[in-house]
Amino acid sequence: MPGIALVGIQWGDEGKGKVTDLLASTTDVVVRYQGGNNAGHTIVVGDERYALHLIPTGILYEHCTPVIGPGVVVNPSVLLEEMDQLASRGIDVSRLKLSGNAHLIMPYHLELDMVTERRLGKNRLGTTKRGIGPTYADKAARIGLRVQDLLDPKIFTEKLAVAMKEKNLLLTRVYGRLPIDPKEVTEEYLAYAERLRPYIEDTVLLVQRALDAGQSVMFEGAQATMLDLDHGTYPFVTSSNPIAGGAGPGAGVGPRDIDRIIGITKAYCTRVGSGPFPSEADPTDAEVLVEVGREYGTTTGRKRRCGWLDAVAGRYAARLNTLTELVVTKLDVLSEFDEIKVCVAYEYQGERYDVFPPNQTIFNKCEPVFESFPGWRTDITKCRELEDLPKTARSYLEAVERLVGTPISWASVGPGRDEVVKMADVQT
Ligand code: GDP
Ligand code: IMO
Ligand code: MG
Repeated sequence: MPGIALVGIQWGDEGKGKVTDLLASTTDVVVRYQGGNNAGHTIVVGDERYALHLIPTGILYEHCTPVIGPGVVVNPSVLLEEMDQLASRGIDVSRLKLSGNAHLIMPYHLELDMVTERRLGKNRLGTTKRGIGPTYADKAARIGLRVQDLLDPKIFTEKLAVAMKEKNLLLTRVYGRLPIDPKEVTEEYLAYAERLRPYIEDTVLLVQRALDAGQSVMFEGAQATMLDLDHGTYPFVTSSNPIAGGAGPGAGVGPRDIDRIIGITKAYCTRVGSGPFPSEADPTDAEVLVEVGREYGTTTGRKRRCGWLDAVAGRYAARLNTLTELVVTKLDVLSEFDEIKVCVAYEYQGERYDVFPPNQTIFNKCEPVFESFPGWRTDITKCRELEDLPKTARSYLEAVERLVGTPISWASVGPGRDEVVKMADVQT
């Protein structure tokens, strides 16, 4: 049975939660390998709607083991709250496994995320303010605290005291904030430790054993390719590697452990936060996409910026992730349009770019070259088979396949678990 990676190929919120959930019905283990509670993955099952930030989507299926891998950054208070909320809705959270190597988001990370954004002023990144960047920065600087540190109160207290000496200087002397009391933080976190202890496990071994035993393991990407720290639209990116290759270090598997790599894309495109977005739609079309697609952030409630599918970024993402297939979501939202555009190339200073430009100035200042496709203007939410879709919708999907250079296995036509059209003969 395969290792399957499921990644966003745009700027996030492509519907990864829904697609992971769709595939989790036949999956044994679902692993989050990067990011933290900056993610917001929505799953709609009947009348129930779940917004998961940290817990892998597999939690909703009893046969599935949800794993928070070593590459994730964990805010324990958020994790416990999410567990409590799910438990109060009748979901069994006892199967959750948490890597001892995952780094902890600390109160000073949250504070630093806020003050550094404030200091950047109009150049701010528009982060989710969940402390993600500062936590990964400390991880790289080797002064982070990890989940396993919680298990040894003496070590935890010592490490925290060292880290906080510097953080309090930074907060007070550079940012003019009040210091944070290390004693309070220690007490707060050691209380979380007691509750989290039963869930902490060697998740790398668990995942490797599952793969060895022929079980199906899914690596659930958060954020997306264009937000990747190394390959996205730096500096307007997140601080981890959401691309499929990130599942290696983030979950503790090798490149040969992943056989199937599914890229998720909306039938159009959205972005939250700052940064260039060449295929951004004009305000009238963007407003339609916002309202019909309900494009408001799952995590921060911010209105998402909306535009047309960017096939240049799509091709770039297909290569970076070595996608084996695409899933196109929110096709139903395009039913509102007579004409659907796709950005097929960029233009900068009279030159056409069919591949993603290597220089950020070009990407920042380029103009989109759009190709137009006819709309279908009819409700497609009840379609389940390829033949049910209007011809123009099928032509649009064929164009996306051709322009991104990757076959589409599913098209999603509504938020619900069953609202999908199977495009090709692929496994579920
Ligand atoms: P994720 O972060 O990639 O998991 O995506 P989000 O959950 O942040 O945002 C996707 C939103 O689109 C959620 O509200 C989903 O319920 C919704 N959604 C997913 N697929 C479809 C679809 O095919 N059609 C419509 N109308 N909504 C969808
Ligand atoms: P899911 O998993 C969309 C964006 C933020 C900001 C940038 C950096 O739901 O697709 P961060 O808090 O990570 O330091 O913010 O990244 N961002 C997301 N945008 N979906 C997400 O997650 C995101 N996670 C972070 O808006 O521009
Ligand atoms: Mg989201």
